[in-house]
Amino acid sequence: MASHYVTLNTGAEIPILDLGTWQIPGEKVNQSIKTALKNNYKHIDCAYVYQNEKEIGQAFADTVDHIIQRKDLFPDRVEEGMQMALKNLHLDTIFQGHDNILPLDDDGVPITGNEDYKTTWKAMERLVDDGLVKAISLSNFNTKQVDNIMENCSIKPAVNQFETHPYMTCNRWIQQCQRSDIAVTAYCPLGSRNRPDATVSDNPILLNDPVVQSIGKKYNKPPAQVCLRFNIQRSIVVIPKSTTPLRITENSQISSYLRPVKVENMQIFLDG
Ligand SMILES: NC(=O)c1ccc[n+]([C@@H]2O[C@H](COP(=O)([O-])OP(=O)(O)OC[C@H]3O[C@@H](n4cnc5c(N)ncnc54)[C@H](OP(=O)(O)O)[C@@H]3O)[C@@H](O)[C@H]2O)c1
Repeated sequence: MASHYVTLNTGAEIPILDLGTWQIPGEKVNQSIKTALKNNYKHIDCAYVYQNEKEIGQAFADTVDHIIQRKDLFPDRVEEGMQMALKNLHLDTIFQGHDNILPLDDDGVPITGNEDYKTTWKAMERLVDDGLVKAISLSNFNTKQVDNIMENCSIKPAVNQFETHPYMTCNRWIQQCQRSDIAVTAYCPLGSRNRPDATVSDNPILLNDPVVQSIGKKYNKPPAQVCLRFNIQRSIVVIPKSTTPLRITENSQISSYLRPVKVENMQIFLDG
């Protein structure tokens, strides 16, 4: 199966399909990673707050050089780079002394730092200068914050990751990033039906949406493929999460019927 990429402003190519890992419990994540790597995923979205990084590290240790070569993963040398990055950013000390993964105040509200994010960005730029990481990126930065970083940075963000899918199109935000040569990664690309507020609200379920369903019927594709395709056609990287092997496989099939075409800095995809 052909792989498909978005070219970052660093020149690196980021796979257009990635496995999300939020809410995959530690005991299940090993199997999910192995299924993903067997299905040609080369990029896994991880975060300290998901509390499953140790198990993900173990899954890599089990599979790298068996199912997949380390050089084929995006990016390689992530462990060494991140260990050094954490040390340099003193994140190991930031989390000390708190029982919660996100420290909360007495009212249960997350405690935020007083640090200006531009100062943090400068620290991240030093990691690139020192050769410890290859690219630095943003998540959940709104249009004003992106402008603020762009006006004050010496190294541009490679990616901005935020929620976007057919119920949350974010067109202006996406255009701003792409015009500034910042790639966009879509989280919750399937509408995140298991997110904490989904069960307490009467929000509609994206994958059950009649329009999504009817497009799926018309093209003989499952609703998840319709939603992934919605973003991929806008040159947006998608990171659907699943613990279900059949769904991990099904989601990987999105790239099998796309043919990448490069147009200047952008990469668009046509039916292949
Ligand atoms: N940077 C941030 O602030 C941020 C915030 C939120 C999320 N994220 C990242 O984005 C990733 C994706 O977001 P998300 O996990 O919230 O939501 P999502 O990927 O939109 O949806 C995941 C849900 O869809 C189901 N699913 C997966 N494939 C399916 C298919 N083919 N057909 C039907 N249902 C399917 C999964 O069920 P099963 O698992 O039961 O198969 C799960 O319930 C996260 O895992 C995380 O890595 C980042």
